[in-house]
Amino acid sequence: MKPMFTPAEIRKDFPIFEKLMRGGNRLVYLDSGATSQKPRLVLDAERNFYEMHNAAVHRGAHLLAEEASSAYEGAREVIANFLGAQVDEIIFTKSATESINAIAYSFGNSSPDSRFALKPGDRIVVSELEHHANLIPWQQLAKRTGAELAWFPINAEGRLDLSKIDEIITKKTKVVAITHQSNVLGTIVPIAKLVDAAHAVGAVFVLDACQSAPHFKIDVKSLNIDYLAFSGHKALGPTGVGILWGRLDYLNEMEPFLTGGSMIESVTMSEATWAKAPKRFEAGVPNMAQAVGLAAAIKYLDELGMANVEEHEKKLTGYALDKFANLKGVKVIGPKTNIDRGSVISFEIDGIHPHDVGQVLDQYGVAVRTGHHCAWPLMKKLGLVGTTRASFYVYNDEQDVDSLIIAIEEAKKYFKV
Ligand code: ALA
Repeated sequence: MKPMFTPAEIRKDFPIFEKLMRGGNRLVYLDSGATSQKPRLVLDAERNFYEMHNAAVHRGAHLLAEEASSAYEGAREVIANFLGAQVDEIIFTKSATESINAIAYSFGNSSPDSRFALKPGDRIVVSELEHHANLIPWQQLAKRTGAELAWFPINAEGRLDLSKIDEIITKKTKVVAITHQSNVLGTIVPIAKLVDAAHAVGAVFVLDACQSAPHFKIDVKSLNIDYLAFSGHKALGPTGVGILWGRLDYLNEMEPFLTGGSMIESVTMSEATWAKAPKRFEAGVPNMAQAVGLAAAIKYLDELGMANVEEHEKKLTGYALDKFANLKGVKVIGPKTNIDRGSVISFEIDGIHPHDVGQVLDQYGVAVRTGHHCAWPLMKKLGLVGTTRASFYVYNDEQDVDSLIIAIEEAKKYFKV
């Protein structure tokens, strides 16, 4: 086990923490659930790619094309190791949203005899915890194919109610697509039971790992899942790069989502056949610098040790939950214990709209997300217009939580609640 890191030391690696916020306050960045900050070495990796190696990968016969291809393919290897995957199973997309759409569109484009084809009467299963990115692509696929969409409800604690699992994942089910960790409530979903139920009826299991892969160790083989998506920008990496992982045998059978250059095996004026994965799903000149930047971010996380990242966030979340328990007029939305939950805390302050809370916190340098968090059905289920959400990462510490609590008390004073 690597020695535990110190957040104050980590912050020195991130240029943004040198910036002062409104009123000369230091930055208390509690919005990593939306996007993480970037260490200097990620910015350097991107700049170095453009300054020293920039060329279109897999196309030229010149030195730069060779270097660019090797940097890009090297990045793929880093991501594969991070997920315990085979290198050819890693596809660079522009975002996790695109990764999930790629699966949904591919299934929708399948020929009727394909194992991925959906027809009227088939079922796609999601949950009430889903972010829109893992809901709307499936709603649309259901509409296009005539399949029905079914979902797991949440219970009073904000966890999935799996009591009717056999009624929800039926023999008609073709796809089960579930978040690993709620971006709103922090709930970690016990996916093993869902994966087993999906496979027992011959369905594929898609994991939305946007809020988990940056925060704790994922091994796609031991999770026994079929597909996974996560975004680079929530894992200390650049924007504009996401990951789609899929089982290689599935990827090589699937229809491509985007078509064009580089994803073909052969082309005539009227027909084309597809390259094998990953190329099949990487049409066009890809986001090379961003992939290289993401690999630098993943190496940085690996250096810290994902077990340390998880332990650090667990401790910090426990500390914050204890503080919240003593705050009058403030309610944590979702699990209030530190069991099977990640480092995301949504809360409401009686009598203050979340947007107003966010604005007052901002006066103290505390950056949080407010609103429906792209999980509108979940908000409706909870009977809320929105929440204020604090989310922690490797650069946060107890001092940040203390600053949050002080700013919440100031917001209560300001609005006289
Ligand atoms: N999905 C991101 C969030 O939860 C943007 O904030």
